[in-house]
Amino acid sequence: RKDVGIVAMDIYFPPTCVLQESMEDYDGVSKGKYTIGLGQTCMAFCTELEDVISMSLTVVTSLLEKYQIDPREIGRLEVGSETVIDKSKSIKTWLMQIFEKCGNSDIEGVDSTNACYGGTAALLNCVNWAESSSWDGRYGLVVCTDSAVYAEGPARPTGGAAAIAMLIGPNAPIAFEGKFRGSHMAHVYDFYKPNLASEYPVVDGKLSQTCYLMAVDFCYRRYCAKYEKFEGKQFSLSDAEYIVFHSPYNKLVQKSFARLFFNDFLQNPSSIEKEAREKLEPFSTLTGDESYQNRDLEKISQQVAKQLYDAKVQPSTLVPKEVGNMYTASLYAAFASVLHNKHKILGGQRIVMFSYGSGLTSTMFSFKLNDGQHPFSLSNIASVMNISEKLNMRHVFPPEKFVETLKLMEHRYGAKDFVTAKDTSLLSPGTFYLTEVDSMYRRYYARK
Ligand code: ACO
Repeated sequence: RKDVGIVAMDIYFPPTCVLQESMEDYDGVSKGKYTIGLGQTCMAFCTELEDVISMSLTVVTSLLEKYQIDPREIGRLEVGSETVIDKSKSIKTWLMQIFEKCGNSDIEGVDSTNACYGGTAALLNCVNWAESSSWDGRYGLVVCTDSAVYAEGPARPTGGAAAIAMLIGPNAPIAFEGKFRGSHMAHVYDFYKPNLASEYPVVDGKLSQTCYLMAVDFCYRRYCAKYEKFEGKQFSLSDAEYIVFHSPYNKLVQKSFARLFFNDFLQNPSSIEKEAREKLEPFSTLTGDESYQNRDLEKISQQVAKQLYDAKVQPSTLVPKEVGNMYTASLYAAFASVLHNKHKILGGQRIVMFSYGSGLTSTMFSFKLNDGQHPFSLSNIASVMNISEKLNMRHVFPPEKFVETLKLMEHRYGAKDFVTAKDTSLLSPGTFYLTEVDSMYRRYYARK
């Protein structure tokens, strides 16, 4: 089987959002803290009508319709999510409604969970299946769906919400480079959800930043080592056209790319221009641990990497800056941003992806792209996703309304016996929404 990978994609995010600038005013923090300090523009959130199940129903139905895929052609369906609605029943089983209707209940796969990494686990499973002797010739389907909400405090502006669907099969325009993968997994309490009565995580913000950056380093070195083993030459950033990161907020992505640049300087100094080399030289003797705490290194490496960041990373930042942290969907929404911005010039290029889930699990891997054939061409994928229009059609809420919505959702989390207001005026036609949770906690959805 040749070129197993992503054949088609679609993305959905709620039409309701709040501007980070107005959140700065509302929270009374210094001007620029969220917009420049975190690098975020806007944040999407689910109202009482939407949740991870409705968003995934919306995105899967839309993908099947827009690429004209018969639901009977799906042989494996995997969901990545860290938003717990039920501790036993998988989100995948809700999605089966779409397939049962067409007489297809023969679909393997369930949900994968570990913070923001579940989507990558689901994707690797599906790709491995399509490459294995168990493959039955049908497509795999991967869904990443999350609603990221935080308690009041410094983490609240790093929320977001979205769902992504990816169709998996051979002859893909977005093919996996299976041999080049580097992972780093460890036991840490950086971000976790031990309180089962609340949707909010417990977060050690500073620790989560350091864990993320350490994972970037480990994964990059392992990815480079695999590349060298199979290609017989050193890897450097110049071997990838774009680098796409899981994006809790944009500032961390800027810092992460600067770390990669610093790694190239340490491993492969000739790949770096003289001026940058001279600026980084004083930091070359720092131990690993020291280097994560060194603010001068952080600042200077971001400065010297800036030009390359603009070329190789900036095109991936559109949706994450506008929608926020989408947890499992974040990395793939960043990738979707590259397709949106650059689909015309991606044929033949390599894109490196970095996936991180707190707790912690992380993997760096890469895609090799080709233009593909309609309907599975890069340009058609970009037009199906229709990102500009989806962003432009959104409705901006004042912070008061956002906070009020989160209060309501705190009461609704884990609750039974309620109906929603069913005011679907802000939803686009075709969007699924929650109508009711009955006395047995059973959830009911309708489609606009
Ligand atoms: N203008 C410009 N920049 C500002 C301003 C201002 N007025 N005020 C602050 N800043 C800068 C700070 O200097 C800092 O940038 P720097 O790190 O480059 O120096 C940045 O804004 C953030 O300010 P902090 O004081 O560090 O922010 P705080 O500690 O209050 O919160 C944090 C940030 C920790 C990221 C918090 O939002 C959080 O806990 N988020 C959730 C955890 C998270 O997303 N972790 C990432 C990996 S794990 C995951 O994906 C969930």
